[in-house]
Amino acid sequence: MGLQRGRLFWPLLLLAAACSGILVALYSAVELHLGPRTGARNTTSSSRAFFGPKASNSRTRKNLLCQHPLSLAVQQHPRFRNLFNLSTPVLLSGDLFTQQLWDSLSQHKAPYGWQGLSHQAITSTLSLLNGSESARLFAVSRELLPGCIRCAVVGNGGILNGSCQGQNIDAHDYVFRLNGAVIKGFKNDVGTKISFYGFTVNTMKNSLISYSNVGFTSVPQGQHLRYIFIPSDIRDYTMLRSAILGVPVPEGTDKGDSPAPTGPSTATAPAPFTSPRSTTALAAPFTSIVGPRPQTYFGPDSSASKFKLLHPDFISYLRERFLKSKLINTKFGDLYMPSTGALMLLTALHTCDQVSAYGFITSNYQKFSDHYFDQTKKPLIFYANHDLSLEATLWRDLHKAGILWLYQR
Ligand SMILES: *[C@@H]1O[C@H](CO)[C@@H](O)[C@H](O)[C@H]1NC(C)=O
Ligand SMILES: *[C@@H]1O[C@H](CO)[C@@H](O)[C@H](O)[C@H]1NC(C)=O
Ligand SMILES: *[C@@H]1O[C@H](CO)[C@@H](O)[C@H](O)[C@H]1NC(C)=O
Ligand SMILES: *[C@@H]1O[C@H](CO)[C@@H](O)[C@H](O)[C@H]1NC(C)=O
Repeated sequence: MGLQRGRLFWPLLLLAAACSGILVALYSAVELHLGPRTGARNTTSSSRAFFGPKASNSRTRKNLLCQHPLSLAVQQHPRFRNLFNLSTPVLLSGDLFTQQLWDSLSQHKAPYGWQGLSHQAITSTLSLLNGSESARLFAVSRELLPGCIRCAVVGNGGILNGSCQGQNIDAHDYVFRLNGAVIKGFKNDVGTKISFYGFTVNTMKNSLISYSNVGFTSVPQGQHLRYIFIPSDIRDYTMLRSAILGVPVPEGTDKGDSPAPTGPSTATAPAPFTSPRSTTALAAPFTSIVGPRPQTYFGPDSSASKFKLLHPDFISYLRERFLKSKLINTKFGDLYMPSTGALMLLTALHTCDQVSAYGFITSNYQKFSDHYFDQTKKPLIFYANHDLSLEATLWRDLHKAGILWLYQR
C-alpha cells in the first residue's frame, strides 16, 4: 500500500507543482491598468506580455483594472480596427424584432437568416426572449460591471490534453465552453468553471452521442450557467422555445425531446406525457413519442433569462469581416459557417474586456489529437462546412495583435 501510494504521490505532487508554478509565473507578469471597456482610453501601451491568466477572486475583482483592454488593441491595429464594430448587437432578443428585420433576414438562409422558416415559429420564439437579460450576455448591464471582464473560451482541441491549464482557465471571470465539453477526468487540464455553453442543437446532440463514452453524458447544467443557442436551423428556434416553455418539442427533427423538466413531477417520474408547466398551443398531444425517455438537456430552471440566442446578423458580420472563406464560392457554400468554437470566441471578443483562447487550433495542430479527450490520437478533421485553416490564421493574427491571448505549446 505504502509503496503504491508513494509511487502515485510524487508524480501528483510534481504535477501540482508544475501547475502552480505556471500560475505564479503568470501572476507576477501581470500589471494592472484601469480601463472600462467602452469610452475614452487613457492607457500607455505596454510592450510587456499583455495579459496572462491570473488568479482573481470576487473580493478583489471589482478593483481589478484592465491591464490591456482588447478594445484598445483593436483601435491600435491598422487592419482589425476596420473589422471590429464592438457596438454590433451580438444577441437577438424579442424587442429587436421588427417587420424590417423579418424582411431582411428572410433573404438569407440560416444561420445568417430565416429564409424558408415560418414566421410563426420565429416570432413565437422571439416573443419569449422579451426580458432585458435576453439582450445581453452578462446578468447585469455592462455599465454596472466596472473594471475588467476577463473571459476564457475553451475549445475542445487536443492541445489541452496534459496542458495543466485548469486553474488558469477557472481564474477568469467568465468561462465559455461548447459542444463536447468533457470535464470529467480533465479538471487539471480544462478546469470546471462554466458560465456559458454554446452549441447548435445538432452539435449538442452529436456530442452527446459521440462523446458519451468519454464522459459527455449530459449537457452542462448549473444555476449560473447560461446557454447560447446558435440559430443554424429551425431546430434551434424550436428547441429554444420548448426549453423556455418547459414543454416537449412539438414538431420537427427533435419532436418529443424534453429540453427541460415538464413540471415538478419529473423529479420522481419519467413523465414526457404529463401536463406541461405551461398550457399553450404548443402543448399539443405528443402521440408519436417513441424510444427512451427524452433527455432533459437544460436542467430545472428554464426561465427565459437562462437562454441567449446569437443574432443572425452577428453571424453574417463575422463571416463577412473575419471568416470570409473561399468555401463560400464552392458547391459547399450553402453549408459553410464559422465553427461553434469560432462563434463562441468571437462572441467573447465582442463582449469581454480580455479574452484567452484555450483548445483552439494552432499552427502546430498536427502534434495533437483532434480532441483533448480522445482515447487514441486522431488527426484533426477539416470538414467542408468549416474553414479551420482560415480560423487558425485569424487566431494567430488576433494573438499577434494583442487582441486575444491564444494558448499555445
Ligand atoms: C489621462 O491621464 C492623464 C495623467 O494621469 C490625465 O492628466 C488626463 O486627464 C487623462 N486623460 C483622460 C482622457 O482621462
Ligand atoms: C457599428 O454597429 C452599429 C450597430 O449596428 C451601427 O449603428 C454603426 O453604424 C456601426 N459602425 C460602423 C463604423 O460601421
Ligand atoms: C414577456 O412575455 C411573457 C409572455 O408573453 C409575459 O408574461 C411577460 O410579462 C413578458 N415580460 C416582459 C418583461 O415584457
Ligand atoms: C494525452 O496525454 C497523455 C499524457 O500526457 C498521453 O499519454 C496520451 O496519449 C494523450 N492522448 C492523446 C489522445 O493524444
